[in-house]
Amino acid sequence: MMEYEIKDISLADKGLRRINWASGFMPVLGSIRKKFKEEKALEGTSISACLHVTTETANLMISLKAAGADVALCASNPLSTQDDVAAALVKEFGIPVFAAHGEDKESYYHHIRKTLEHGHDITMDDGADLLSTLHKGYKSEIDKVIGGTEETTTGVIRLRSMARRGLLGYPVIAVNDSMTKYLFDNRYGTGQSTIDGILRSTNALIAGSNFVVVGYGWCGRGVAKRAKGMGAKVIVAEADPIKALEAAMEGFQVMPISQAAKIGDIFISVTGDKWVITGKEIQKMKDNVIIGNSGHFNVEIKLEDLEEMSVEKKEVRENLTQFKLSDGRKINLLGGGRLVNLSCAEGHPAMVMDMSFANQAYAAVYLKQNARGLEKQVYTLPKEIDRDIARVKLETMGIEIDELTDEQMKYLDSWGEGT
Ligand SMILES: NC(=O)c1ccc[n+]([C@@H]2O[C@H](COP(=O)([O-])OP(=O)(O)OC[C@H]3O[C@@H](n4cnc5c(N)ncnc54)[C@H](O)[C@@H]3O)[C@@H](O)[C@H]2O)c1
Repeated sequence: MMEYEIKDISLADKGLRRINWASGFMPVLGSIRKKFKEEKALEGTSISACLHVTTETANLMISLKAAGADVALCASNPLSTQDDVAAALVKEFGIPVFAAHGEDKESYYHHIRKTLEHGHDITMDDGADLLSTLHKGYKSEIDKVIGGTEETTTGVIRLRSMARRGLLGYPVIAVNDSMTKYLFDNRYGTGQSTIDGILRSTNALIAGSNFVVVGYGWCGRGVAKRAKGMGAKVIVAEADPIKALEAAMEGFQVMPISQAAKIGDIFISVTGDKWVITGKEIQKMKDNVIIGNSGHFNVEIKLEDLEEMSVEKKEVRENLTQFKLSDGRKINLLGGGRLVNLSCAEGHPAMVMDMSFANQAYAAVYLKQNARGLEKQVYTLPKEIDRDIARVKLETMGIEIDELTDEQMKYLDSWGEGT
């Protein structure tokens, strides 16, 4: 009997319909699935995956299984699990899932351990919680792992920190750092789905609002661009001078969060950093503002401060908590401070996850074939794989591009010709 722990198996039909719908927008992953299935590229390999349990992740899991892998899945965030998807993976595809929407911290880590115990020749992370659980609690198992993959910026930061300190036990592929991942998923995926989360939870009018984006990295520039496109007056708060300059030249107002706090109607932090919006900033905010976070962990908004400053707290809409300050001002928090796009909406569209998860599938096969020659470091997939994914994506979008002539290639490789 297959072991699993999910909320409600009777949701499987709905989950299956949604997984199939997403599949229609994931042609690159579909073509890789076919290729890896024929090659049985992951035959006999166990993969423990800790990813957001969404329709797109389901398609990745199905692809890995088709390639011969023995996969198990848990959530990479307690609020991002789609229970119908978890049910369909178990019932329709025979994939063990250990995840439930809204689970507490204890259950979240219990599920990570259950997934690890299923088998872990390869670990697959979004935020590095599974890998760090393995490193902390299963030390004798570390040497048996072939390698790992990591989906997001915050996870890559954690892994690089471990590698610098000599603590990383096996090689990891930073899937986030493929261009076909961060340039598209982080920018267009987070951009659109963050706005989607805000709208679903508040039905706020973006047009004419003062919309503050904290962090103008790949995700932040996506959120800022989409908010601007909907008519918001966008303010960017940044700590890096180059990024701040880019934001200024893109036409955004740039100022420190301490100043933006007084002006904003909607605030989204997406820095991957800790405590970027604290009590100090909240104290300056207008009545009835909306605040949320799209960064990986729920540490960007200092929730302890918000709790401490409040005299009353209530759920005013789905995924929206209203805090009342002692002077009567109301602060509306999206998704409990967890990533807005996954806690208040469905996460990134399948069309963009197609490329991220094509990278994940390639990374697993790359590890199986090459890990023995790799150090205990963080690696990026070879550029050729990145370009291949882009090429196939373009094809599936019906877009043709130019090809360099031999003469042009020779010229671009030469130095002799000048004025
Ligand atoms: N919501 C999602 O679905 C989703 C998707 C991809 C990535 N992420 C997460 O979003 C976060 C950002 O990812 P990214 O790829 O944009 O990273 P990035 O490194 O490209 O950008 C982060 C930016 O934040 C700035 N920053 C850091 N601390 C700051 C502070 N205190 N004040 C102002 N600016 C500050 C940095 O200078 C940088 O420009 C990460 O946690 C990542 O894991 C979330």
